[in-house]
Amino acid sequence: MGRLIIVSNRVPSPRERTQPAGGLTVGLKDALRGGSSLWFGWSGNQAETDADPQPSFDTVEGVTYATIDLTARQHEGFYQNFSNGILWPLFHYRVGLMNYSRRDWQTYLEVNALFARCLVPLLRPDDVIWVHDYHLFPLGQALRDLGVTTRIGFFLHIPVPPWSLVRSMPGAELLLEDMQAYDLIGVQTDEDADNLNQAFRLNGLEERARAFPIGIDPYEFRAQAEASVLRDEAGRLRTSLRGAALILGVDRLDYSKGLPERFRGYEALMARYPEHRGKVTFLQVAPVSRGDVEEYRLLRRQLDELTGRINGAYAEFDWTPIRYITRPIARDILAGFYRMADVALITPLRDGMNLVAKEYVAAQNAAAPGVLVLSHFAGAAPEMDEAVLVNPYDADEIADALHQALTMSLDERRQRWTKLDEDVRRTTAGFWARDFLRALDEAPPVCPV
Ligand code: UDP
Ligand code: G6P
Repeated sequence: MGRLIIVSNRVPSPRERTQPAGGLTVGLKDALRGGSSLWFGWSGNQAETDADPQPSFDTVEGVTYATIDLTARQHEGFYQNFSNGILWPLFHYRVGLMNYSRRDWQTYLEVNALFARCLVPLLRPDDVIWVHDYHLFPLGQALRDLGVTTRIGFFLHIPVPPWSLVRSMPGAELLLEDMQAYDLIGVQTDEDADNLNQAFRLNGLEERARAFPIGIDPYEFRAQAEASVLRDEAGRLRTSLRGAALILGVDRLDYSKGLPERFRGYEALMARYPEHRGKVTFLQVAPVSRGDVEEYRLLRRQLDELTGRINGAYAEFDWTPIRYITRPIARDILAGFYRMADVALITPLRDGMNLVAKEYVAAQNAAAPGVLVLSHFAGAAPEMDEAVLVNPYDADEIADALHQALTMSLDERRQRWTKLDEDVRRTTAGFWARDFLRALDEAPPVCPV
């Protein structure tokens, strides 16, 4: 059997415990256990010259990580500006935040071609290539242009809006055309698949998209949660709560996550349900992400202000309503925090999937599970209708949901959680990867042998 070649912009550091947060690397790492594979992408470091970089290699647990440096100019045009200043807002339905420039589009294409040139010498004829996410839409075509004829699959981890919105980006048709180089395109939900296929259809192209909802490794995560609640960090959190119920949010600091709206929802809980004052604590873990992109800096400032306002209004000398942390916390420590949390508050305005929702379910104690409050607009929502589902734009609805969750009977919590847990255990990361790769193998090939 050939090797599996994973290509993504972000590659996890194989030897570090605290990783830059993000569902792509978490889901894929959980999927990659066993088998021989190569993971190719950006090193996170800066190249000094414009000459093609030499990949660096590191092999850990059967996976070889091959990464390349990008110059400051490439990083800015490709990653910051085009991927995260244009594609990310557009695909999260925030066309008003899109900051288009033709020069960034050129740099995006240039870096995709560079990825292809650096990857091709590492390939063997029987490899299967699996490209990930919006940074690399044109990579499949760039590889085909260099003569690669093996199977190439693509998975998009973010949502896909209808074509009427996507087409506001100049050159969107060209991206769709390039995507025809992939034998199969996976997306997170049926809605995303319908939207992408509609875009292909309206542009006279072949419909290649299918939904493959990503998951986690729930068995490993549950074991981590059980071990983590016994550790020092969990003990310190428990002591500091002094019996208050814990509401937990965990998200990269990103405007797609609905954080200001969530804080206002919690503020509405304080205002409308005063019986919870002093009896709950909301802990929001929100590691800074893409801090060089303007929108992300503005969001951080907005959250600093909101936290200050809410704490100023409701804190007592011995109780603080919101604890807000902008540093990442290692995932194995978070696992214990999830297990201790009475409520997980996950309210993205749009999210491809949201693995935190699945992690929260996997981490629960079956005898006394907590309650998941989840946005309708998370990719996870169609699979998780036993959660308390909310419209994240409505602060009062969030407050009502929090009140419902904080006062829910043990019986109802168990009933809801049991169904959620069944789903999380059925659609694991391993299942997701195998399912996609089997479908890729069976898809009509772009380059028939
Ligand atoms: N995460 C982490 N430390 C943090 C915050 C988040 O390890 O401080 C992890 C989290 O447990 C989850 C991932 O980062 O596995 C976030 O994935 P998700 O799909 O929820 O969102 P994304 O970041 O991909 O938009
Ligand atoms: C989301 C995207 C990933 C990305 C991650 C972290 O999960 O789908 O492609 O890697 O966020 O973002 P970053 O910009 O730090 O890679």
